[in-house]
Amino acid sequence: MPVTIAFDVYGTLIDTHGVVEKLRWMVGDKAQAFSHTWREKQLEYSFRRGLMQLYEDFPVCTRDALSYACAFHETPLTEAQKKELLALYRILPPFEDVKEGLTLLSGAGHSLFAFSNGTAEDVRSLLSNADLCSYFLDIVSVESHRSFKPNPAVYSHFLRRAGSSGCDAWLVSSNPFDVIGAISVGMRAIWLQRSERQVFDPWGVEPTITLSSLREVEGQLARYLNNN
Ligand code: 2OP
Repeated sequence: MPVTIAFDVYGTLIDTHGVVEKLRWMVGDKAQAFSHTWREKQLEYSFRRGLMQLYEDFPVCTRDALSYACAFHETPLTEAQKKELLALYRILPPFEDVKEGLTLLSGAGHSLFAFSNGTAEDVRSLLSNADLCSYFLDIVSVESHRSFKPNPAVYSHFLRRAGSSGCDAWLVSSNPFDVIGAISVGMRAIWLQRSERQVFDPWGVEPTITLSSLREVEGQLARYLNNN
């Protein structure tokens, strides 16, 4: 039975650490740690701006987090270097399992959507660069709601845009905060654990399904739907 599936973008379809090679030229051995700090602070800024109701587009969170990472790691980049990194952020690479996983799911008749904190323009740029646009019926950004995941309002916004209800809609995300946010509004959610070191938050809310590759989603989803 086909269902509606929302795909988180950054960290799920698109590898935010695709900037590490470029960073290595700029900050040397600090590149991995710098990239991690940049991503963690980008998300923290989105949480804080959402809670403070002080919304700025996700690219502002990304830009400010980059400046924070420069200060934290004592690696002062030039404005030109920062501009180069932010431009790279719009053409980050997809994970290697994405195209095959999406092909299986669209072949099974599911309705696929991109659903992201990113602006619709940025997400379209990323998906177009990765040759993934054709898999999605729509790109749903939180920007029109001027808040961020995991605000319940943005998941409700997705359900309205997708014309779906909670129990018929699934989220696929590598971000535990996103999985917990979706389940908390009645959706079902697949946690894509993209690293064995990733820990799911001990909140007493568990993913509906936990997988390690997008290739597994179609088969495991069909198995779940047949058994429930
Ligand atoms: C998203 O794409 C930030 O990964 C999060 O919405």
